[in-house]
Amino acid sequence: MTASDSSAPQPVLILGGGLMGLAVAHQLARRGIPVTVLSRRRSEAAGFVAAGMLAPHAEGLEGALLQLGQLSLRRIPSWVAQIEADSGLPCGLRSTGIVVPFHSADERDAYPTAAFGEHLDREQLAQELPGINSAWRAGLLFAQDGQIDNRRQLMRALESACVDRGVQFQEGVEVLELFTANDQLSGVRTRDSEGKEATLTCERAVLCSGAWSGKLLPQLPVFPVKGQMLSLQSPRGALRRVIFGPGIYLVPREDGLVVVGATSERNASFSEGLTPQGQTTLKQGIAALLPEAESWPPMERWWGFRPCTPDESPLLGNSPIPGLLLACGHHRNGVLMAGATSELIADLVCTTEPKQGLAELLPSFRWDRFQSS
Ligand code: GLY
Repeated sequence: MTASDSSAPQPVLILGGGLMGLAVAHQLARRGIPVTVLSRRRSEAAGFVAAGMLAPHAEGLEGALLQLGQLSLRRIPSWVAQIEADSGLPCGLRSTGIVVPFHSADERDAYPTAAFGEHLDREQLAQELPGINSAWRAGLLFAQDGQIDNRRQLMRALESACVDRGVQFQEGVEVLELFTANDQLSGVRTRDSEGKEATLTCERAVLCSGAWSGKLLPQLPVFPVKGQMLSLQSPRGALRRVIFGPGIYLVPREDGLVVVGATSERNASFSEGLTPQGQTTLKQGIAALLPEAESWPPMERWWGFRPCTPDESPLLGNSPIPGLLLACGHHRNGVLMAGATSELIADLVCTTEPKQGLAELLPSFRWDRFQSS
């Protein structure tokens, strides 16, 4: 990185203060790079919405996306240890395993990641998930998949770890425009919460604006997929494993809170709020998976926007603008992928060779892979 003067290198700007932005900022700060995070509205970050499943196998990922997910899953314990050490706060990582139920053994055996799971018959399924609806006849147990309490613990710990490592924050600041000079990134135009506009010069930035990434750079095919969620308070210990059913999942936290997700609304665009149809879908999904959970009292309901791309895989690495790196478009797997993505982007900013096979995976996640040659 070149500097504006020899004593004060310009900070790397992180465009977006959600999970990906915080994770990248934290990794850069750990390497001694000055970083400023520009965050528009904390509460809209997908990191505060997601259920926090670490589920490359339960999600049935395939190809390069599965490899990235598996790499990130292996990286999660050391990544979380760094955040916990820097913040002094727990992140709520739990090795609960995840069970995917099926209506038949044939359906189970055809699942894309079946080779990575323990095959369960009906009796074994009922042992893993007491009370599961009798319609489910088989299952896959992915003991290696897990969960983290992103909403209540991870996001807060990351914010604290970033501050502890010297990351600067500008909150309530929207990035309106990117500037270039000599075909290189040269700055951004911002507007703060009082409406004041400013220009920040920079030579390096990372775009982590989630579902809004395409608004800043229209070449990027990122669009929102709305998800509605709710939580239930179960008797503590009533559910040991995450249940990942078709279109519905139940994620038990240590204190008995069960996070239930999620609708997947591709036509909702950025329409805010809960809908009766979305909430009905979740209610019916709970009954179809675990009838006793219908009596657990609801605690909270919320929604958010997954950052999706045409092949449902992220955009990572170089962008159309030299100096601007991409870390966006993680769709259903942002929490899982944050570990590997943040390390990869920190390597690219520092021009270090990416580790652990990440370099080989990068071509699969180029921003321009959708364009016909
Ligand atoms: N990761 C699950 C979801 O996006 O609903």
